[in-house]
Amino acid sequence: MNKHIVILPGDGIGPEVVAQGLKVLEAAGRRFGASFSTESALMGGAAIDACGDPLPEATVAACKKADAVLLGAVGGPKWDNAPRRPEAGLLGIRKELGLFANLRPATVHPELASLSALRPEAVERGVDILVVRELTGDVYFGEPFGEDVRGGVRHAYNNMIYNENEVRRIARVAFAAARTRGKKLCSVDKANVLVVSRLWRSVVEEAHKEFPDVALSHMYVDNCAMQLIINPAQFDVIVTGNIFGDILSDEAAAVAGSLGMLPSASLSGTAGDGGVGLYEPVHGSAPDIAGQDKANPMATILSVAMMLRLSFGMHDAALAVESAVRDTLRDGWRTGDIAGAGGRAVGCERMGQLITDRLLQSR
Ligand code: IPM
Ligand code: MG
Repeated sequence: MNKHIVILPGDGIGPEVVAQGLKVLEAAGRRFGASFSTESALMGGAAIDACGDPLPEATVAACKKADAVLLGAVGGPKWDNAPRRPEAGLLGIRKELGLFANLRPATVHPELASLSALRPEAVERGVDILVVRELTGDVYFGEPFGEDVRGGVRHAYNNMIYNENEVRRIARVAFAAARTRGKKLCSVDKANVLVVSRLWRSVVEEAHKEFPDVALSHMYVDNCAMQLIINPAQFDVIVTGNIFGDILSDEAAAVAGSLGMLPSASLSGTAGDGGVGLYEPVHGSAPDIAGQDKANPMATILSVAMMLRLSFGMHDAALAVESAVRDTLRDGWRTGDIAGAGGRAVGCERMGQLITDRLLQSR
């Protein structure tokens, strides 16, 4: 099997973590009999610097032809006042590739439980949450949006809007994911206030009929924010809209402890449906430590595992990468961000190498 992967290293620590992700991907290919050809393309601040556009057309064209895309991170203070910000590149590629389903697993690795923002009792029962966030609708893309002056007063508005088809397809992805895990889905909305949420809720209930083996519950977003702190162990899969999912997935990350450990996948369908998947660490570009070999590459490496599983159906390879990460943690190796949990501190490159060696050793 040969797969073509477009790499979008992006800004800040993006290029460093992506380099380690690729090293692991190549090793996984060697061990499991697949080869990967790669091509690098510009996005984000790097693209603004090179050609004034955070998402050049050539990048979109390359991604559309790829079997999968691996992204580092975009953004940084350097472009805070740019006419088009690096983040526009990220939103643009999600829309261009139709990546409506964003999967963000948040798990507490036992070795790192002390890094969770929560008390030990709260994480003791295990935290293994998958946030399924709708990624191409909602206030992020809703029209009309704009600014104007009414009666001498400046106004600005975005538009929260979903149609039933958008809700149904994300609900199906979430139900299907729940089916492979704890068979519990919690749909998060604000149906006590928002008419959009009332449509959301009724469509999720309709979709539930196709997945009667999954237990469905509903929760208001404010309550969910609280429940994630009080009792995160109650959650299996959470499905929600774009803006609520943006916020709750960061909260779930804090519950899990280190942002440097969390992978994500953005898909245009249920796993295996075809389409180009985009894989990226949940963390940002961390400009303060960029270029210093201090970043944690594990989120990117775990994103590579998601790519192997969801885009290429290489389940054994995905499991092997995940165990290599776990074994490396168990052996006590740590990057700076997770050094608080004890162990031996190493840089980004070395961490990538340790995981690669583990992966190749454990044949
Ligand atoms: C995320 C980020 C992005 C988002 C930003 C960088 C545009 O916060 O992926 O969660 O809001 O979706
Ligand atoms: Mg976010």
